[in-house]
Amino acid sequence: MNAIVAVDKNWGIGKNNDLLVHLPSDLQYYKEKTLGKCVIFGQRTLESLPKGRPLPGRDHIILSDDPDYYVEPRKGYACDVCHTKEEVLAKAAEYQAKGEEVIVCGGASIYELFLNDCDGFYVTWIDHAFDADRFFPNLEELGLKVTWESEPQEENGYRFTFRKYERV
Ligand SMILES: NC(=O)c1ccc[n+]([C@@H]2O[C@H](COP(=O)([O-])OP(=O)(O)OC[C@H]3O[C@@H](n4cnc5c(N)ncnc54)[C@H](OP(=O)(O)O)[C@@H]3O)[C@@H](O)[C@H]2O)c1
Repeated sequence: MNAIVAVDKNWGIGKNNDLLVHLPSDLQYYKEKTLGKCVIFGQRTLESLPKGRPLPGRDHIILSDDPDYYVEPRKGYACDVCHTKEEVLAKAAEYQAKGEEVIVCGGASIYELFLNDCDGFYVTWIDHAFDADRFFPNLEELGLKVTWESEPQEENGYRFTFRKYERV
């Protein structure tokens, strides 16, 4: 299983249940990496998406502590609400058995929970320190290595690169 995240130079990922910055080419990259796959979201991140709806063209697994939580799926795709890590992993295994890639998409509590279940991390590394209230685990401190990095990008005055971190 892989994860995808955009972090700032302090591994900040969000503030007030929103992203730190909206970079159009990062959103495009995110779409390329997740379209047609199964994405895992926490309830709060799902609710931060446009109209609080699942993303089109992707199967969803949502982790929520609310036993009555229901999410209307997108046409042609599934949206399963789970209430424990074990339930999420069992559902993810069903997709993997069908050959569908599963990607952990946040937020902070979900990244933390599935950190050790992920082998690869697609990290958009933004060279800026934002005022964040949610963070991703510092993969450098955990000993993971950058196995691929894009050319430097710049958009809206922010410099960033796309990186892949792996346990090597
Ligand atoms: N930069 C990025 O790439 C990126 C990507 C995604 C999200 N984000 C940001 O991350 C922030 C949201 O992160 P967050 O940590 O606040 O929320 P979250 O991870 O999206 O969602 C947390 C939800 O999951 C539930 N949950 C967590 N662990 C659980 C468990 N073991 N069993 C059952 N339910 C569980 C929580 O219940 P409780 O209420 O009981 O804890 C809560 O309802 C936002 O700012 C968002 O914009 C950034």
